[in-house]
Amino acid sequence: MAQLPCFALLLLCSAAPLAAAPTRRSYLPGTGRFWHITDLHLDPTYHLAPDPTKVCFSSKGAPATHAGLYGDFLCDSPYRLIQSAFTHMAPLTQQQDFIIWTGDSPPHVPAGELSTDIVIQVISNMTQTIRQHFPNLTVYPALGNHDYWPQDQMPTSTNAIYKAAAQLWKPWLQAEALLTLSQGGFYSQLVKPGLRLISLNTILYYGPNKVTENMTDPAGQFEWLEKTLEKAAQSLEKVYIIAHVPVGYLPFARNTTAIRESHNERLVAIFREYSDVIAGHFYGHTHRDSIMVLLDQQGKPVNSLFVSPAVTPIKHVLEPYSNNPAFRMYLYNTKDYALLIHVCGHTEGHLAVTGIYDRRPGAAGQRVHPHHRLEQLHLQAGVQTDSQHAAARHRGAAGQFSCQVWRDPLCEPAVVHPRSLHRHSTLPQRQDQEEGEARRSSVKAIIAVLI
Ligand SMILES: *[C@@H]1O[C@H](CO)[C@@H](O)[C@H](O)[C@H]1NC(C)=O
Ligand SMILES: *[C@@H]1O[C@H](CO)[C@@H](O)[C@H](O)[C@H]1NC(C)=O
Ligand SMILES: *[C@@H]1O[C@H](CO)[C@@H](O)[C@H](O)[C@H]1NC(C)=O
Ligand SMILES: *[C@@H]1O[C@H](CO)[C@@H](O)[C@H](O)[C@H]1NC(C)=O
Repeated sequence: MAQLPCFALLLLCSAAPLAAAPTRRSYLPGTGRFWHITDLHLDPTYHLAPDPTKVCFSSKGAPATHAGLYGDFLCDSPYRLIQSAFTHMAPLTQQQDFIIWTGDSPPHVPAGELSTDIVIQVISNMTQTIRQHFPNLTVYPALGNHDYWPQDQMPTSTNAIYKAAAQLWKPWLQAEALLTLSQGGFYSQLVKPGLRLISLNTILYYGPNKVTENMTDPAGQFEWLEKTLEKAAQSLEKVYIIAHVPVGYLPFARNTTAIRESHNERLVAIFREYSDVIAGHFYGHTHRDSIMVLLDQQGKPVNSLFVSPAVTPIKHVLEPYSNNPAFRMYLYNTKDYALLIHVCGHTEGHLAVTGIYDRRPGAAGQRVHPHHRLEQLHLQAGVQTDSQHAAARHRGAAGQFSCQVWRDPLCEPAVVHPRSLHRHSTLPQRQDQEEGEARRSSVKAIIAVLI
């Protein structure tokens, strides 16, 4: 399935393998494109302080010893880093493009540092910042688990935050979408004739959300989703699903789903039933540059689920790895909305699909420590340094983004065996010796995580 429509895009992949820089022009006639940004996690407190424990609240007292103008791996995004991402995207943008934005604007700080008002202020700031950079584009947002206070505890009915989101996103969304957004934090909208976008509130299913833990259908979203997909099928529309927390297993915790298992099963069942209608899934949350594949009951791949890396580089002090700041551009076939994935990342950030392996041509997938990469990045990008601070403080994300082409794994004709599926989807150009086992689905959750 979906191989013929992908064919033109495959040609593109072969003609323009790694590191092909995109331009404002569309690549091919019959190709449209859109951006995916996620997990911006602005930390407004970030600043280059002489005391590394005082650089950002989001390091929670841990020393940000590599703090640079564009960030540190123990901190959430400085405003400058977020601006640098948008500044890179803007000149590559065409009037007919659109943006999907899968949530999480506030920083990772203890609940006591935030409030409903502060969370709304941060979402408002990010909304305005995006509008300043892309005044003519429609943006389709989804709410993240940090886009609430206290975090994760999204309720099943209207509240100050859903209402604020509906108010802030009026320039982008229509009345019907704003109504369900303000009631349950989810919506659907036609992007163009034949293409519908469904923005789910998967925080309602998220394990740490205590409010919804015993509910079979929080906010009636499952019923709404089935109805919306059924209507799309009858109208011969294709659907892109966007949400913050993905279905399926987490990339860094074996055999653990991000959303609670009963809700995961229900969502997987719906997605399988409507896999012909759904042309793509787009998620954030994990801060891992990854791709998942939805298998049907017989184990046949039916949909690609794209999980975009975060803009924030943050990791916990005990975590070995993080992602380099990144975002993605996708190309799609305007006839059937089949996808070609196009990853844009930090100058070297995109070199790892997982954030763990060096995937530059010739690098043969060695393990690379992220700090090491960012130091190199800094040197290569020649970031201007602030003379008041030691050079060591300016290592870190250099705010320079570049692009690299990846293809949709389901557009790969060689996809037969899950191992080859795995390999092709993560590493199109080379053999991959070090990749871990694809986390194949058990009988229950039928998702293979490819990281
Ligand atoms: C957003 O926050 C940043 C960092 O605190 C600030 O510099 C900027 O002026 C704010 N922008 C808007 C539109 O509120
Ligand atoms: C937005 O659209 C207006 C009117 O068509 C145009 O004048 C302006 O240049 C556009 N701005 C950008 C950033 O594309
Ligand atoms: C959910 O059910 C468990 C077990 O019956 C109970 O302990 C818990 O309080 C319930 N949670 C809510 C939010 O009702
Ligand atoms: C994964 O989880 C399922 C369901 O919780 C369990 O039956 C299975 O044994 C687990 N597999 C591994 C490898 O831990």
